[in-house]
Amino acid sequence: MKEKIEQILAEVKTFKAENKDALEQFRIAYLSKKGALTELFTEFKQVAPEMRKEMGMRLNELKNTIQTIVDEQQKQFETTGESKTDLDLTLPVDAMSGARHPLSVVREEINDIFRRLGFVIADGPEIEDDYHVFTALNFPLDHPARDMQDTFFISKNPNENKPTDVLLRTHTSSVQVRAMEANKMPIRIIAPGRVFRNEAISARAHCIFHQIEGLYIDKNVSFADLKQTLYHFVQEYFGEGTKVRFRPSYFPFTETSAEMDISCNICGGEGCNICKHTGWVEIMGCGICDPNILKASNIDPEEYTGFAFGMGVERIAMLKYQINDLRMFFENDLRFLKQFENA
Ligand code: DAH
Repeated sequence: MKEKIEQILAEVKTFKAENKDALEQFRIAYLSKKGALTELFTEFKQVAPEMRKEMGMRLNELKNTIQTIVDEQQKQFETTGESKTDLDLTLPVDAMSGARHPLSVVREEINDIFRRLGFVIADGPEIEDDYHVFTALNFPLDHPARDMQDTFFISKNPNENKPTDVLLRTHTSSVQVRAMEANKMPIRIIAPGRVFRNEAISARAHCIFHQIEGLYIDKNVSFADLKQTLYHFVQEYFGEGTKVRFRPSYFPFTETSAEMDISCNICGGEGCNICKHTGWVEIMGCGICDPNILKASNIDPEEYTGFAFGMGVERIAMLKYQINDLRMFFENDLRFLKQFENA
């Protein structure tokens, strides 16, 4: 009997249950009515009287040891839910829940088209300074965009001739300046990012939105290159046969400046609410880099020329998915987001 007790003690001492079921099996094997201990207690009845005291003690000790093992491991499963050894972090996930935000979908699609043309993604800070957002881009000191009404300032510097204000960037054109400062020719970048303007929130305007900026500087870059690049983008994104037109415009950092319209992809140019019955919708501003901005970043305008363009991601997404309220993108209403699960 003594040997049996010792043998069981050795067996149970190293026991570690893999999960709750295994622990229950263990408990049944030793402590239940048909378990090994019950058997031993039955045998105990036949033990010679002079051995009873010692065997009784050993038997009780064994029972307590097993009960403690069961209780302690039981507690562990209750706190961790399941056994640690059961959790396999390398297992593949069956199904992903959730979806990409429509703005991310559109941004990636646009990035991809320009990547294939050799543009690389560039980045810049959202908290910028006056120099990169305005001054280096040829904005006159009294330009209305510098006004408190349009720009969120973080700190204002009172020096009126040379502002060094810190502000939230109002456009991703600031990344142009950062790319030109790095001064590695040629420059062919696409800069997606978040921008901020002090606007009242409505179906058509928001204080936060997203833009994608493009910049190409090299020797002999012309307006024809700009037209062809953007024409290619439109065919890829809105489909073969989409028409484009360029209207003269003004931006401080481009000369010549233009706005580009595409034939309305909703009505095919016939006229509808989206295109306000004109058959055309504006999708971006663009132009040839003003020599002043090249000079500001120490690029010789006699040697290099470039083009730039900038578009609003929300605007493109609204056209693509026929969404007529800009606020939808920021409310995170699951009924709205779920519609893009497969996008
Ligand atoms: N930065 C302009 C805006 O926010 C958009 C823009 C227009 C960007 C013309 C350009 C450009 O690069 O050439 O309204």
